Amino acid sequence: MRSLSIALLIFHVSLTAQQAPTGLPKCETKQILELAVCIPMINEFKGYSQTLKIDKLNSEAIRNMTILCDRAAQCLSVNKCQESDNFKKTLEKSCDMLDYLGDPFHCLTEFFKETYSSNGSPTCFQKYDFLEKVLSKKREAFENGKSCFTDYVKDYCNKTSIDFFSKNYQKFVNDISIKPNDTDGQNPHKVLNMFRCNALGKQIQNEILELHALKMESNDTRIPKMNKMCKDMQDCASEYTSISLKNKQKIEHTCSLFETVNQGSFTDCTAKLMGDEPDLSDYKCLEGLDFYDSSNSNVCKKVTTKKECFKKIMGDKCGKEAVVDFDKIVERVAKVMEC
Ligand SMILES: *[C@@H]1O[C@H](CO)[C@@H](O)[C@H](O)[C@H]1NC(C)=O
Ligand SMILES: *[C@@H]1O[C@H](CO)[C@@H](O)[C@H](O)[C@H]1NC(C)=O
Ligand SMILES: *[C@@H]1O[C@H](CO)[C@@H](O)[C@H](O)[C@H]1NC(C)=O
Ligand SMILES: *[C@@H]1O[C@H](CO)[C@@H](O)[C@H](O)[C@H]1NC(C)=O
Repeated sequence: MRSLSIALLIFHVSLTAQQAPTGLPKCETKQILELAVCIPMINEFKGYSQTLKIDKLNSEAIRNMTILCDRAAQCLSVNKCQESDNFKKTLEKSCDMLDYLGDPFHCLTEFFKETYSSNGSPTCFQKYDFLEKVLSKKREAFENGKSCFTDYVKDYCNKTSIDFFSKNYQKFVNDISIKPNDTDGQNPHKVLNMFRCNALGKQIQNEILELHALKMESNDTRIPKMNKMCKDMQDCASEYTSISLKNKQKIEHTCSLFETVNQGSFTDCTAKLMGDEPDLSDYKCLEGLDFYDSSNSNVCKKVTTKKECFKKIMGDKCGKEAVVDFDKIVERVAKVMEC
């Protein structure tokens, strides 16, 4: 199965700098010429930014960008006038998020995967809803859950991240819970959201694997979490136009499968069969297929070429209601697994 993870471009720096007047005088011709000297640095920065993908972060490139940021900012500080100041402000916003791109990126990716995970994350994760959508509540969660978050970081992240979050926790909380007013260009709020979407894409993969094994019961406490993951992933997909149509469709299939699984008797029957492993040697229609092997290729056979046989077994073992939605469900399984 191909990865759902979303290769997002981190920046598209817009340095067209349309901002409210700053109260500074307009730049004079001489100052504009001096400003022009800074342009190559900004362009070099943009050059890096156009190739930077969230799942292929290059630490050397990030270091180079940080250096360029400092140099360009110094260059733009020479003249205190409007155009120069606008450029500087826009650049600073882009530079501001570089802090998150190295080690903290890995750390936050693991953190978000963990918050989405349906298998026993640290207990305090249940107390603070770090995935809350309403920003004021999200802020509350990160403020009240500070020790929960920092304990996680201490246990699972590298030293750079531990230092970073202990020094910048309040800034991090602001960045994650305050949406800046200007929507164009890049900013830490958007970047952190992208990290969450990326981690979610990865974690959904893991959850699908659980489903593949068809070992879940409909009362499984993991299922509501999976449904939340799906909804959030759909939000991510609509937010990031760069996610391919194919992946968007896959997200749709996955979510509709989760919904059906939620509904009941089919799921309970497969869980029962997979648990009890009754002897199925009488079923000639299996033609040698090992019903209990949950490898991808085997599950694919069960939902495609052997699906009538699968249906008969389920009907015999669990009764008619277990196969009411059978055709719909196996079709979705086949689509999600790209059988
Ligand atoms: C970073 O900058 C150095 C010096 O300009 C250059 O040699 C190197 O190739 C750059 N690294 C990347 C990843 O672009
Ligand atoms: C810690 O650092 C190593 C090596 O740089 C990296 O591969 C790993 O992803 C990092 N882990 C976290 C959680 O940041
Ligand atoms: C956004 O604009 C509103 C109203 O002008 C202002 O109150 C608020 O502080 C601004 N938020 C940010 C993050 O700048
Ligand atoms: C789910 O239901 C089955 C039987 O219907 C029961 O044995 C199992 O304990 C239940 N699991 C949970 C988590 O409630």
